[in-house]
Amino acid sequence: MPETITTNKPLTIALSKGRILDDTLPLLKHADLVPNENVKTTRKLMVDGPLLKTKSGSTRIRFLIIRAADVCTYVEQGAADIGIVGRDILLEHKPDVYEPLDLKIGVCRLCVCGPKALVEKGRLKEGSRIKVATKYDQLAEQYFRDHGIQAEIIHLYGSMELAPLVGMAERIVDVVETGGTLKANGLIEETTLYDISSRLIVNPASFATRKAIIQPIIETLREAVALNSAANTTS
Ligand code: PRP
Repeated sequence: MPETITTNKPLTIALSKGRILDDTLPLLKHADLVPNENVKTTRKLMVDGPLLKTKSGSTRIRFLIIRAADVCTYVEQGAADIGIVGRDILLEHKPDVYEPLDLKIGVCRLCVCGPKALVEKGRLKEGSRIKVATKYDQLAEQYFRDHGIQAEIIHLYGSMELAPLVGMAERIVDVVETGGTLKANGLIEETTLYDISSRLIVNPASFATRKAIIQPIIETLREAVALNSAANTTS
């Protein structure tokens, strides 16, 4: 009988804090990747998970619970082998990572939005100058440049909807899910730039060297996504 080897190096999975964590945990559970503590309430940033058995031995799973924008950095740097992060962050930061799976959670859209009265006046004319509040500086810059609009980008870290209310910007570029935040602040969508959902990302070097453990995780999560989709269509 072959000896079972427990590898010393844990397999590290970086999870995005915030809303998508609620949808991420059931998918992880399907793959037997359950953190040892409640990652929604703990103040710990690194939490142990199960010992995952593969054909060649066992590997300890470890979770990092960090801001969505930092998940890309941890995975790109190899400090995490795997990450779960929104497509919005991937489009903005373009990290050098593999993106093998659309998890179909955290579904929303990245939009240009503005005060109802301004947006209803009609499309911005080529050559017009505006201020745009966003945390998606690159995507916003590119969109307005492509449309011949001179946009001054004002970088914010959250609550973009406030900027037009206080006259700091004429437009925002932000994710919209239910539309509730826009509505509560008198804003409407003008254009959808991208459809967004959460993606599984993998460090390329980890994928090459730890494929025996990473590939089965991808496949089990793929199964969980399919089950989720089937349940959503029948409900
Ligand atoms: C996000 C986003 C919007 C809101 C959209 O913010 O930035 O403000 O959700 O969701 P809705 O269409 O369902 O209202 P989040 O609550 O994640 O916080 P943040 O502003 O700090 O990023």
